[in-house]
Amino acid sequence: MKDYDIIKGDCILTTQKIEEESIDLSVFSPPYDNIRDYKKGWVFDYSALGKNLYKITKDGGVCAVVIGDGTKNFAKSLTTFKLAVNWCENANWRLFETCIYQRDGNPGAWWKSRFRVDHEYVLLFFKGGRPKTFNKEPLMIPAKHAGKMYSGTDRLTNGNFKKIKPKTVNSMKCRGTVWKYGTSNTEGNRIKLEHPATYPDKLAQDLILCFSKPGDVVLDPMCGSGTTCVMAIKNNRKTIGIDINSDYCDITKNRIKNETTQQQIMFEKLATI
Ligand SMILES: C[S@@+](CC[C@H](N)C(=O)[O-])C[C@H]1O[C@@H](n2cnc3c(N)ncnc32)[C@H](O)[C@@H]1O
Repeated sequence: MKDYDIIKGDCILTTQKIEEESIDLSVFSPPYDNIRDYKKGWVFDYSALGKNLYKITKDGGVCAVVIGDGTKNFAKSLTTFKLAVNWCENANWRLFETCIYQRDGNPGAWWKSRFRVDHEYVLLFFKGGRPKTFNKEPLMIPAKHAGKMYSGTDRLTNGNFKKIKPKTVNSMKCRGTVWKYGTSNTEGNRIKLEHPATYPDKLAQDLILCFSKPGDVVLDPMCGSGTTCVMAIKNNRKTIGIDINSDYCDITKNRIKNETTQQQIMFEKLATI
């Protein structure tokens, strides 16, 4: 395949044509609960998509779904949880982790009768025994007490305390499960903002760096403005983007042209599509 392929099409029909066990990682955000107007009508059959994605993913491959829940008549839709249970029970996916993507700087003084929603979920599914790539080094975060001596106690599972030997706190520590990013509005990317519902470049990049290697194939079956595809190419991964709306496919292609260098474009066309 070439380094990228952007396909205008329905995600269910198009993923049916992709070669089985050919995708290393999928990163995407589906339209959920009519929260945004995408101009063209769509139906999101998440059950069928889960099965297709499972088929085309390699053993040990990962699928990251950035998703939230709408609110109707004061109650949350549970879309996220339904998708997670459906994919694990009906499509063989296994849930690696549920992370929270916290949108930093979300305005919202108008939220009167409930909390201001400033998060979405990042459902991390894997196929097979365990994820074949898990590189958390690029996702490490600075430790608050870096360089200081730490002496104290650890809490045991039975509730008792155990004294530990004094040790120096490392400068970086392991990322937790709450991931905070500025919204796409803060990125200053006008082409990207032509799409109504994008996630931050850094979120896509973190997932790509953690769960894939250079040369791997990264799929976004609902690519919108192409955030996943751009970040995949920038990090020397091959990528396939699919969107039902041709305007959004054009935005993706423009972004690839403007934001990646020719050097990053080095593979051949995907044979099966
Ligand atoms: C939340 S947006 C994705 C945004 C993307 N993650 C980004 O950062 O730009 C969801 C996208 O799904 C697309 N979509 C909706 N139904 C689809 C379908 N059946 N097949 C393919 N794409 C679809 C919409 O056109 C929209 O661009």
